[in-house]
Amino acid sequence: IDPTLDLFHEIERLKKEKNAVLLAHYYQEPDIQDVADYIGDSLGLAQQAVKTNADMIVFAGVHFMAETAKILNPSKKVLLPDLKAGCSLADSAPADLFKAFKEKHPNHIVISYINCSADIKALSDIICTSSNAQKIIESVPEDQPIIFAPDKNLGAYLNKKTGRNMVLWNGACMVHEIFSLEKITRLKIRHPKAKLIAHPECEEAVLKVADFIGSTTQLLKYAINDSCNEFIVATETGILHQMQKDAPNKTFIPAPPNNACACNDCPHMKLNTLEKLYLCMQYEQPEILMEEQLRVAALKPIERMLEISK
Ligand code: 13P
Ligand code: SF4
Repeated sequence: IDPTLDLFHEIERLKKEKNAVLLAHYYQEPDIQDVADYIGDSLGLAQQAVKTNADMIVFAGVHFMAETAKILNPSKKVLLPDLKAGCSLADSAPADLFKAFKEKHPNHIVISYINCSADIKALSDIICTSSNAQKIIESVPEDQPIIFAPDKNLGAYLNKKTGRNMVLWNGACMVHEIFSLEKITRLKIRHPKAKLIAHPECEEAVLKVADFIGSTTQLLKYAINDSCNEFIVATETGILHQMQKDAPNKTFIPAPPNNACACNDCPHMKLNTLEKLYLCMQYEQPEILMEEQLRVAALKPIERMLEISK
C-alpha cells in the first residue's frame, strides 16, 4: 500500500461506496476502533449485525464473531480482514470431541458461549455471551441439567453465581489466563485506591480479588460511572483505548501478566490491522462463507439467545 494513502479517509470512502458497515470489537487496535461505525462486546456486535441495513458487514474481530454475523445475515457479504484471526477458546472445543462429550451427558441441554465455532453452535441449545450468560442460565428450569462450553473459568464463575452445577467443558482463553495474582496483589499494594476490574474469563483466583466482574462493555461502563479514579484492568488491553477516551482523567493500568515476555494482547484479535482492513474492503475478501445446512442449525441457538436478551 502506498504509505502516503490516508487509510482513514479511504476506509470512510469505501464504506459509503459499498454501503458497508464496520463493526469492531473492543479488543481491536485503537485505529480500527476509531474508524468503526460501532464498537462493542460480543453481544452488542451480534445485536448490531441483526439490525444493520448495510449490504456488506466488515467485521473487525475474530472468526467466530464474523461467522455469527454471517449466520444472522446469509444474504449479506461478511468480510474479516484476516481469516486467520481465530480464538484459543473456540479452538479448545473441536466439534467431534464435543459431540462425544455431549453423548456422555444425554439428559443435558447445551449452553455455549458465543466464542465457539458454527459446528459447536449447531450442537448447542442456547448461545450466551459474558453479558447475558447469567440471564440465559436462569431462563432454564432449575432441575434441568446443563452442559456449559467451552470456557471453564466463565462456567465455574456462573456455577457460583447461579448456584447451578453445570457440567463444564475444559476450555480457556489464553489472554485471560495470563494474569498473575501475585503481581496483581503487589500492584494493588502500590495503588491502594485502585479497583481491580476483571472479565469472567479470568481464573477464579483473580476473580476472587476483583472489585467488579463483567463483560467488556460492562467493565467499560463501570469504569466510567464509578467514583473511583484508578483501575487495574484484567482483560485484553484494547479496551483501555475506550476507557481512556471516555474517562480521560482516570488512570487505567493493565493487570500484569505472569511473565515479563507475555502480554495481555490477544494475538488473534491483533492480526487485523488498518492496512488489512482497507485491502479487505477494497477487494471484498476474505469473505465468510458457510454451508446453508450448518448455518440454519447454528442460527437456532443464537436466535434463542437474542430472544432472551431482548
Ligand atoms: P465479551 O466481548 O463478551 O466481553 O468477550 C470477550 C472476549 O474474549 C471476546 O473474544
Ligand atoms: Fe478468543 Fe481470548 Fe482472543 Fe477473545 S481474547 S478472541 S476469547 S483468545
